[in-house]
Amino acid sequence: MKERVFSGARPTGRQHIGNYLGAIQNYVKLQDEYECVYCIVDLHALTTLTDTRALQKNIREMLLDWLAAGLDPQKSILFVQSHVPEVAELHTLLSMVTPLSWLLRVPTFKEKAKLQPQNVNYGLVGYPVLMTADIVLYKAKVVPVGEDQLPHLELAREITRRFNTLFGETFPEPTAKLTSFPMVVGLDGRDKMSKQLGNDIELALTVEQTRERVMTAVTDPARRYRTDPGHPEICNVFKLLTYFNAPDIEKIAEECRTAQRGCVDCKLLLAELINAILKPLRERRAALAADPQYVTQVLADGARRAEAIAHVTLQEVKQKMGLI
Ligand code: TRP
Repeated sequence: MKERVFSGARPTGRQHIGNYLGAIQNYVKLQDEYECVYCIVDLHALTTLTDTRALQKNIREMLLDWLAAGLDPQKSILFVQSHVPEVAELHTLLSMVTPLSWLLRVPTFKEKAKLQPQNVNYGLVGYPVLMTADIVLYKAKVVPVGEDQLPHLELAREITRRFNTLFGETFPEPTAKLTSFPMVVGLDGRDKMSKQLGNDIELALTVEQTRERVMTAVTDPARRYRTDPGHPEICNVFKLLTYFNAPDIEKIAEECRTAQRGCVDCKLLLAELINAILKPLRERRAALAADPQYVTQVLADGARRAEAIAHVTLQEVKQKMGLI
């Protein structure tokens, strides 16, 4: 039998090329080798959101990008976290075996508490417990995540071990499967590509919009004039060219170093490559978006299949904890 993969992503709406290169592509690939469960974690989103008006739209936009990129609801379970309420119950049960001290020392908790001092809510502390519930509810062994999630995964393993020790072997210890892709830097050439920071390129942009966005990218800051020699090794546009498999990349680097080509040349090429690679994705997306019923149906079907597994696990957990 195939091993089970679980991963979750916050409903951030339209996805960008950082999401695509760093996570979505990998999700798509794993579908053939594993039984995959991919979850849009709306409850986790609530730990940092007070204005939730865009939530429903963001869930659907994200799913459209996932489907257009090749996540296949025939192969994988695609669902929204809160549609399977068993996770909230398991979260409560796991919270009883999680020492508070473990949670208070999680680096992401400390960061978030600093970022939103006016909203250090209880859910924020329990974030990794909910994440553990996500994973073990489906008894997933493999969890594809980025490096930033490793502390959460370590905690998930500790909670799992503790549960198994106290109540008997129940859950496999989940292991992180690091995405091999390096962090994608945003158009500012500085921070990780993120919608929040406004330094992203959305997958669903038009050809023209993509070109416009790429033209705003920061390149080698030391290269002020077209005649200055460039430094491809520190240039984010150059890095993106390699990610999108630009042909003759060595020649491009050499031409940049000797000022034979300018940054505009590189940007135009990058926009062209992105547009070529995303063309089929955008066509699929447009077709899917034309049928809103389809997205609703995919999510309903995903929730139904997820719940069938979740129900069995939760019964077992309740039994082991003496609740039934
Ligand atoms: N915390 C993850 C993130 O911000 C999202 C997430 C929630 C997740 N539950 C998960 C990831 C379970 C992997 C497995 O990216």
